Amino acid sequence: MVDVLLGLQWGDEGKGKIADYLTPGYDIVSRFQGGPNAGHSLEFNGEKHVLNTLPSGIFHPGITNLIGNGVVIDPVKLVAEIGRVEAAGADVLSSLLISRKAHLILPTHRLLDEAHENAKGQSRIGSTLRGIGPAYRDKTGRNGLRIGDMDAPDFEKRYKEICEGHLQLIEFLGLGGFDLDALHAEFFASIEKLRPYRRVNSEYWLNDQIVAGKKILAEGAQGSMLDVDFGTYPYVTSSNTISGGACIGLGIAPRHISKVSGIFKAYCTRVGSGPFPTELRDATGEALREKGREFGATTGRPRRCGWIDLVALKYAIMLSGVTELIMMKSDVLSGMESIHAGTGYRLNGNESSEVPFGICEEGLEPVYKTFRGWDEDITRVTDFTALPSALQQYIAFVESELGLPLKVISVGPSREQTIIR
Ligand code: GDP
Ligand code: IMO
Ligand code: MG
Repeated sequence: MVDVLLGLQWGDEGKGKIADYLTPGYDIVSRFQGGPNAGHSLEFNGEKHVLNTLPSGIFHPGITNLIGNGVVIDPVKLVAEIGRVEAAGADVLSSLLISRKAHLILPTHRLLDEAHENAKGQSRIGSTLRGIGPAYRDKTGRNGLRIGDMDAPDFEKRYKEICEGHLQLIEFLGLGGFDLDALHAEFFASIEKLRPYRRVNSEYWLNDQIVAGKKILAEGAQGSMLDVDFGTYPYVTSSNTISGGACIGLGIAPRHISKVSGIFKAYCTRVGSGPFPTELRDATGEALREKGREFGATTGRPRRCGWIDLVALKYAIMLSGVTELIMMKSDVLSGMESIHAGTGYRLNGNESSEVPFGICEEGLEPVYKTFRGWDEDITRVTDFTALPSALQQYIAFVESELGLPLKVISVGPSREQTIIR
């Protein structure tokens, strides 16, 4: 049985916190897409940890953490991350499994990311520059190197051939100023450091675990509106972030998926370029950024902030067959005089409750419903009924609009600041 947990907005909904919180109910936690563009924050015992490629169950003893075939792995970043997590006390060696079919991010993928973004100028995606797009491009272009290739006698030769091709493009795009020998050396040193970690045919392993009755949590990265097919294309990431991505990225059949939990913030954020209909480019947006500490976990970039967008949430729920909802960062809205919820879009004079093909076009205006705010600090509330009535009314509206129950309400970054209904 596999439960999926995924973001319904533009990423950074709080997937790391909730995956870590839910881990004790599972035997296995797995990542199925994305790579070190993700930054998943966990907080417990007063300490904050940020994970990029490792699944968020990594701090729980006795849980197996699987990096699935759908993930792209930068060995340099992964080795550094493992070092940090081991220093914090986790036993990564005994709990981590890596799919042999996961593709590798090469140093020249990172350079290509930068070269492409520079070439795009004003229309840049705002990529995290972790080499994600170029690595997935080589995967679908049938030109990639995989974790399982580390054991092949011609691994280095194939690596060099792929790099050669990349370098021609990098030169054409005019990127310079890098030390290629140092990048190659760092890459191969990291590959050696990864060798002790278990690399498996994860599709067989995972399906055996399903047959054995094990409980698996599939942890999404990014968010539904960054999905390469259904997001705000071309301002998206390069993988399928919706629940279907879990089947592809782990090698499991759709019938094994049980619950699909959709996570969203009580408001909305986006980092990088692209449309964001309910964005607040004013003092209220600034206040949300300050209070919600909305700065990227991976890149430190300020996140764009705005009101909740129920049109986009409904769309994301439809795409993933979400069965229950989890609302994060309700505490950040405390002290707001009024709260707005986007319930529709107006484009060229027409109102719609659907995400239009032309969401990237200028002139899309949200339609709002307004709610009264609340002043109470809710960061220590542990019981739903103790939440301010104004917040309960906001929640009731969100539930009725989205047609699903809200099962978890998060009121702070720490594990214990989680209200289960
Ligand atoms: P992820 O990428 O979906 O795992 O989310 P990030 O970790 O990138 O961003 C979520 C941020 O919000 C992190 O800094 C979390 O520590 C923090 N956070 C999570 N839940 C809450 C919450 O309920 N309230 C507040 N104030 N912060 C939260
Ligand atoms: P988590 O898992 C928020 C955004 C980037 C950029 C676009 C493409 O922490 O929610 P990429 O590096 O994939 O080429 O970037 O996607 N992006 C994210 N935004 N959270 C993330 O991950 C993101 N991963 C990528 O900012 O706009
Ligand atoms: Mg994040």
